[in-house]
Amino acid sequence: MCGIVGYIGKNKAKKFLVEGLSMLEYRGYDSAGISVVSDNIVKTCKTKGKIIALQELLKTNDIDGYLGIGHTRWATHGVPSDNNSHPHNNSSNTISIVHNGIIENYSKLKNSLEEAGYKFLSDTDTEVIVHLIDSYYEGNIVEACRKAVKDLEGSYALGVISSNEPDKLVAIRKDSPLVIGVNSDEKYIVSDIPALLSRTRDVYFLNDNEMAILTTDSVTITDYDGKVLNRDLVHIEWDLDSASKEGYEDFMLKEIFEQPLSVERTIGSKIKLGEKVNLENLKLDAKSIKNIFIIACGTAAHAGMVGSRLIENLSHIPTQTFLASEFRYQEPLVDKSSLCIFVSQSGETADTLGALKLCKELGARTLAITNVVGSSITREAMDVIYTYAGPEIAVASTKAYTSQLTIFYILALYLAEQTETLDIEKQENIKREILNISSNMKKILKCLDSIKNIAKIISTKKDVFFLGRSLDYITAMEASLKLKEISYIHSEAFAAGELKHGPIALIEQDVPVICVCTNKNLFDKMISNVKEVKSRGAYTIILSREKSDIDCADIILDIPDTIDILMPIISVIPLQLLAYYVTKIKNLDVDKPRNLAKSVTVE
Ligand code: F6R
Repeated sequence: MCGIVGYIGKNKAKKFLVEGLSMLEYRGYDSAGISVVSDNIVKTCKTKGKIIALQELLKTNDIDGYLGIGHTRWATHGVPSDNNSHPHNNSSNTISIVHNGIIENYSKLKNSLEEAGYKFLSDTDTEVIVHLIDSYYEGNIVEACRKAVKDLEGSYALGVISSNEPDKLVAIRKDSPLVIGVNSDEKYIVSDIPALLSRTRDVYFLNDNEMAILTTDSVTITDYDGKVLNRDLVHIEWDLDSASKEGYEDFMLKEIFEQPLSVERTIGSKIKLGEKVNLENLKLDAKSIKNIFIIACGTAAHAGMVGSRLIENLSHIPTQTFLASEFRYQEPLVDKSSLCIFVSQSGETADTLGALKLCKELGARTLAITNVVGSSITREAMDVIYTYAGPEIAVASTKAYTSQLTIFYILALYLAEQTETLDIEKQENIKREILNISSNMKKILKCLDSIKNIAKIISTKKDVFFLGRSLDYITAMEASLKLKEISYIHSEAFAAGELKHGPIALIEQDVPVICVCTNKNLFDKMISNVKEVKSRGAYTIILSREKSDIDCADIILDIPDTIDILMPIISVIPLQLLAYYVTKIKNLDVDKPRNLAKSVTVE
């Protein structure tokens, strides 16, 4: 949540700050602002709204200098407003900061700062930090920061500048991401790598409880006591093209269409017919694993739900999926014979990261499935499997989801090879179908007309329901999340067998019910449930690979055929497209839905 950037170098800071913020806008877009040291004072320009509003404001503001910081906000403390926008400055405008995270003890700190005479202009937790630094400032911004962070509780990635010391940019990190970019005569700080790609691919990752002092020519990383730490420079393989729209109208559409390719990248050389699964450096002893916990949030949790079913079915190791925000507070029965798997596109989700730290304390073996190289979760976990889906920019996750599913198919096979619970013929058949996912995805991506027609119908509705059984139920949940988060249409997913236990009371004339009916064994049962809603007036849309004997559908959407367990990765695609087209018809911002942010770095 929130994106921060910083610049020090031989060129004017403003250009990079605005460019960088535009690349980070998916992290929050309630307000935006920059501060630049100019003519020996800090000049700040900030406004409620998206980066475009900041760009307008900057046209009439003279704010040029060689040191600066910027912020795009996802509001936590205080409504989106000009005053609550970052950067926040001390009263003499000599110190300015940007912050991503939450200061948990801010109200205690605010009281004591107010007693000491500090005046607050905003309702944010961040403003306490700048006054705290000011209270410790005796001519050395690094020392003042060092003292101030020792008073802070909570999470923070900070960029700090002072007009008294225009040769330094200070970066500090605890539990919120921060990356340092390096060029020969420019240094940068950013919350996430895409913001750097136009300038450099050489980065340092800052760890928790560390600070960095950037000058035009150097980066020094220290702990909070000033001890200098060695850090290797990392070269990022992504390029700028993979973080741009490449001719698509929106990132979400580009990312949906990219899935045949991203899934191929995820598979890489991990599976080959006639060979054992190759998960690179992963060395798990499946026979010693008593139970598996999969922990994630949102869409990643849906991938985990499919994953737990696959792992349990194929390897017979008891496996359950938990929402990270719930898992942390329910005294889980995790111990050293447990394998805990953390699924996260960004690798920064605060709840997932918190659950990972908890599982480590409990002695479990930890494995991360993430997309972002060097993210916090990858650095905390013992083992990492990267999804290699490429940067996902749209807030609504699509290609990251199908890549996470792909990893679960492969991981389930890997574990089953060791537990010897699956005969060779079945293993080979699953592998064959995994290798065929990409061409099945391409078939679905050609059915745009029928999906657009369904979108027209859905876009006029207030409520939409999704039904499914077994793995189709998880697809229904994911489809429902996708639709509601970008189109703002109320939608819910139900396990079809649960209808009669309450939800069927919601069915009335013409309410759309989208029924995911791809599981061959459960097809007849699903059709009975569809008939139940149809006879109560529902408008039924059925996703199926069986074309005959469906007399209860208003619309049937054909899905390419594969084995039951692989259906989730195929049937989700038309439903991602449906959410996309409904949102376009409603003329809403697909990539940046209201109230959301791509990376949820607060609890
Ligand atoms: C929904 C969506 C979110 C994320 C969730 C976890 O489309 O994208 O539900 O899946 O916030 O994010 P990561 O995977 O980054 O941990």
